[in-house]
Amino acid sequence: MRYVITGGAGFVGRHLADYLLKNNHDVVVIDNLYNSSIENISNIIDQIDFHKIDILEKEKLKPIIKNSDGIFHQAALVDVQDSYKQTKKFFDVNVLGTKNILELSQELGLKTVFASSASVYGETKEIPILENSERLPLNPYGQTKLEDEYLAEKFSKDGSSIIGLRYFNIYGKGQSDSYAGVITKFFKNALENKNLRINGDGLQTRDFVYVGDVAHANLLAMESKIKSGFINIGTGKPVTILELANIIIEKFGLNLKPSFFKPLDGDIKDSQANIELAKTLLNWIPTTELEAWIKSQI
Ligand SMILES: NC(=O)c1ccc[n+]([C@@H]2O[C@H](COP(=O)([O-])OP(=O)(O)OC[C@H]3O[C@@H](n4cnc5c(N)ncnc54)[C@H](O)[C@@H]3O)[C@@H](O)[C@H]2O)c1
Repeated sequence: MRYVITGGAGFVGRHLADYLLKNNHDVVVIDNLYNSSIENISNIIDQIDFHKIDILEKEKLKPIIKNSDGIFHQAALVDVQDSYKQTKKFFDVNVLGTKNILELSQELGLKTVFASSASVYGETKEIPILENSERLPLNPYGQTKLEDEYLAEKFSKDGSSIIGLRYFNIYGKGQSDSYAGVITKFFKNALENKNLRINGDGLQTRDFVYVGDVAHANLLAMESKIKSGFINIGTGKPVTILELANIIIEKFGLNLKPSFFKPLDGDIKDSQANIELAKTLLNWIPTTELEAWIKSQI
């Protein structure tokens, strides 16, 4: 098949591109390189069809998307703290950009699998979080992802095939240290022999899911018969940030301590996915284990 990945030079997008190539698919990447660079994809540049285009430039997208079999929509502005400062820009790219993609896929009769986020939930009463939990995002970034889901619901009602994968905290090689990149930040602290910086008391929990497992979930969603809905993509295994810091300190064998700073705006206390829906609908289970992956990186 010939698949388009928007945001394909970014962290998730390029792992997904690798994964699709390994599974013998043709890959078209659309990215304006706002938050990435061509070097990120230099290893696969000869194997993909790359277009430096903004997803807001709808008229330029159509000829590129036209001859494909489906779209993996990953492009977005992702830094939560930035979303307070540049709220309009976030709504433009994340919501109007997604609307462009959904309009084109509807027009061309293509299936779209898009990157939603656990941030649509905000602070939920029940943990682990089920897909039908109330959606009350705490920050502008999460609000843009909720708007994307409303759009997906509207286009699905009109007959389009759209699946939103609600990613929890993704980790893996090549992640930038902004956004959800706490593991990358801790690695950086450890390599510089500095104390690991924790925002808040460190007792907040996160559900870390490996980027390769996320790529797998995307392809399963594209290939499945499921035509609409939102599916959690996490591991179901929560880790506190303090535990994470201690695992990294221990694996690196360093004599460091975590140091504590004020909590970040719009940061939730607990996050843990219920992943039964992904297991049953997509036959997906995450296979990479966080501690083993950290060990493998040292
Ligand atoms: N990484 C995570 O933990 C996580 C968690 C939940 C949801 N998500 C979602 O997954 C997707 C991928 O996230 P990521 O971590 O790879 O982020 P990323 O910033 O590494 O990748 C996003 C890519 O989109 C591109 N982009 C931004 N604006 C664009 C525009 N106007 N036109 C074309 N390209 C544009 C950027 O240049 C970048 O390459 C995003 O939609 C994000 O919201 C990520």
